[in-house]
Amino acid sequence: MDGTLLIGGAQAPFYLPQGDECDIFTAAFTNSLPLLLKGPTGCGKTRFVAHMAARLGRPLHTVACHDDLSAADLIGRYLLKGGETVWVDGPLTRAVREGAICYLDEVVEARKDVAVVLHPLTDDRRILPIDRTGEELSAAPGFMLVASYNPGYQNILKTLKPSTRQRFLSVEFTFPRPEHEIPVVARESGLDEDRVSLLVRLAGKLRGLKGQDLEEGVSTRLVVYAATLIAGGMDLNRAIRAAMIEPLTDDADTRKGLMDLVVAVAG
Ligand SMILES: Nc1ncnc2c1ncn2[C@@H]1O[C@H](COP(=O)(O)OP(=O)(O)OP(=O)(O)O)[C@@H](O)[C@H]1O
Ligand SMILES: [Mg+2]
Repeated sequence: MDGTLLIGGAQAPFYLPQGDECDIFTAAFTNSLPLLLKGPTGCGKTRFVAHMAARLGRPLHTVACHDDLSAADLIGRYLLKGGETVWVDGPLTRAVREGAICYLDEVVEARKDVAVVLHPLTDDRRILPIDRTGEELSAAPGFMLVASYNPGYQNILKTLKPSTRQRFLSVEFTFPRPEHEIPVVARESGLDEDRVSLLVRLAGKLRGLKGQDLEEGVSTRLVVYAATLIAGGMDLNRAIRAAMIEPLTDDADTRKGLMDLVVAVAG
């Protein structure tokens, strides 16, 4: 994968900005403020964080949050090792100690006790109390907390409380405009821009159906999948069906309607 050339010759993963998100990330980092990324699945949030961490020269610890994830999973726990109990830092503690970026993906999925841990870290105290060891860590310079969530598909109970949300700067991600999405998909897949623009046009139509027939619009990730299959030699209709239609819905009638739309757009 090619990307931005960094000082020292290393490469940051390729990321094409959609707006001023790189400036906001940099300002958040410089001012030691946490950042919340909101947006639908597959629109570039994870890639963006990886890109910015590389550009800013900070290690990145990513945690995919799920409904069983507890504060101890983030902070750490005592483990039995060779007959002895030893303390093992969790990913959040490691990031706090070494001044890394900690990225909590889908943070609303995590258990409620996680918010309690995040609060003193995300206001001007920047501390992480570790009850089990009695330590109170001050975040090392360079530590930054980034969290993401998709406001669309969670139910109303799974949203962030204002007291958590209002500790973060926020950036909203949407599906890229065609003039951004075409070069992104072409670069990621190796498919020529002519054929990519057809896929992107189709993606735009499918996204227009969100809320009527579809829960979520087709992601840039899926458009990249379709383009990759086509670049590898698969015929257009099969690639579109497998990458851009089947993943969207389990309802057979809806899928048939979507394939009719494909024929109308692709001919
Ligand atoms: N602006 C962009 N620049 C470069 N690649 C992009 C961009 N936007 C999307 N992509 C492509 O889309 C793919 C999916 O993006 P990514 O994994 O970052 O989505 P996400 O928003 O983190 O999704 P999820 O919420 O499901 O985790 C990437 O692997 C990359 O190929
Ligand atoms: Mg992601």
